[in-house]
Amino acid sequence: MIPRYADNAIKIAPSILSADLSRLAEQVKEVEAAGADRIHVDVMDGCFVPNITFGPVLVKWLRPVTRLPLEVHLMIAKPDDFLDAFAEAGADSLIVHVEGATHLNRTIQHIQKLGRKAGVAINPATPAVMLEEILPELDLVLAMTVNPGFGGQSFLPGTLAKIAAIRRMIDSVNPDCELEVDGGVDQDTAPRLIAAGARVFVAGSSIYGAPDGPTAGLRRLAGSVGG
Ligand code: DX5
Ligand code: ZN
Repeated sequence: MIPRYADNAIKIAPSILSADLSRLAEQVKEVEAAGADRIHVDVMDGCFVPNITFGPVLVKWLRPVTRLPLEVHLMIAKPDDFLDAFAEAGADSLIVHVEGATHLNRTIQHIQKLGRKAGVAINPATPAVMLEEILPELDLVLAMTVNPGFGGQSFLPGTLAKIAAIRRMIDSVNPDCELEVDGGVDQDTAPRLIAAGARVFVAGSSIYGAPDGPTAGLRRLAGSVGG
């Protein structure tokens, strides 16, 4: 397997959760032109997290809008039931929560058999050791730096030590695995996250909520991490 994300470059993944959905295509094209590396799609079911957002139909409509990879973050109680539908709709990578997948190895195998990148997300209160057995199989770890469910929450600094621990685990057993962070990422928190070992940055509010617009928000974030 040749991982698509084998390099260690800094990458930015704007989250459309904070976009103006009345003009989603335009908002996605804008961040693509500004240098975004992938588009982060937050899927919530009102069960695993206390909010409801998007289904496969949104990914289907987004697919022809951009050439960027579509990364689908599944915050849902039964991720296995929806993997095929999101892959069929055009998702390039599928991220499931370690807390929400009972047979995680089977789920990861399923995603990779679909020809998609497989990621595992981990909540702030879940210890890094929960990733130990599955890590060699993964293309990506998504460390949550807020409790999932909403955009615009404050970064939890207690996650930094765990991110550093995950970085050490990745370097020792699966160096091609990406380490991505999600929640409260902005120009102030990103430099601390990069020092802890993160290389991919999901950002909703600091890009789509930027008072001077998404292009300026993305450039400010990229500038803070040397991009
Ligand atoms: C939160 C989502 C995030 C969210 C981040 O549950 O997983 O992707 O969009 O939003 P900000 O960047 O505003 O914290
Ligand atoms: Zn997310």
